[in-house]
Amino acid sequence: MLSYQHAFHAGNHADVIKHVCWIGVINALKKKDKPFTLFDSHAGAYCYDLNDAMSSKNKEYESGITRVNNTDASSSLLSDYLNLCSTFLAQERYPGSPVISAMTKRNNDSLHVMELHPAEFDKLNHNLNSLRVDACHVHKRDGFEGLRALTPPKPNRGAILIDPPYERASEYKDVVNGVTQVLKRWQQAQIVIWYPLLSARAGAKHGASEAMCDALAALDVPCFKAQVCVTPNTEDAGMYGSGVMVLNPPWQLDVQLDSALQEAVSHMGAHASSSLVWLRRDA
Ligand SMILES: C[S@@+](CC[C@H](N)C(=O)[O-])C[C@H]1O[C@@H](n2cnc3c(N)ncnc32)[C@H](O)[C@@H]1O
Repeated sequence: MLSYQHAFHAGNHADVIKHVCWIGVINALKKKDKPFTLFDSHAGAYCYDLNDAMSSKNKEYESGITRVNNTDASSSLLSDYLNLCSTFLAQERYPGSPVISAMTKRNNDSLHVMELHPAEFDKLNHNLNSLRVDACHVHKRDGFEGLRALTPPKPNRGAILIDPPYERASEYKDVVNGVTQVLKRWQQAQIVIWYPLLSARAGAKHGASEAMCDALAALDVPCFKAQVCVTPNTEDAGMYGSGVMVLNPPWQLDVQLDSALQEAVSHMGAHASSSLVWLRRDA
């Protein structure tokens, strides 16, 4: 079943936390000259037209990028994110994670993006190739299978973004299994996992993100989780926020991300808040 389409959610508060964090990871990798490899296991459709029927249905971007855009960011990480978005927002588009990776990496760094949905894959493949950025590889394959097949890269510097739709309750366990297998072969992998924060209305999925984070924290690598909540966690709230779990985070990402998210939520309404908690400091 592949019914999820990210266009309905493009630019929402979840994209803000995820994309700010991912840029922070790539920026840190760029501090050394040595090339690195990025993996995006659930890539989506490259870029989103904010005026099309899907994005404009619920206008979710109004809870996210619209709130922080045109603010004078004092956090350097939030500023990098807004600068990257600005070219696209000027054309009423929002950049997905493959664009962010392709535009932030250097020419000699590699990027592998994976997408299973046929229509999303076609858009991704066409648009990423037309960007004409070196060393970008588009795969129509299962993201977890792709990570198993393509890691560790050579040289083994790099990072992974795991951003499943979580349509099925089993996807939370798929993330833990996938990450466990990658770490067996590539212990230094820097891994960013996005997850939703769901109220009791979510039924079987309620508490699944929290259980997933606990299982990931037990994997014996340094990790923290950062979260943004935009509305109180009442029973009927639905997705009241989201988080990113970062395994093997680069030095100072915690400080930079914390200040970027605190600044972002200050524009997201009276109920918005952010947090960052280390779950395991040293292996
Ligand atoms: C949340 S969206 C990705 C958004 C994107 N990472 C971004 O930040 O712009 C999740 C995507 O994963 C795709 N997908 C679902 N299951 C997959 C799988 N097993 N392997 C690869 N892609 C999958 C969906 O079609 C969807 O496009």
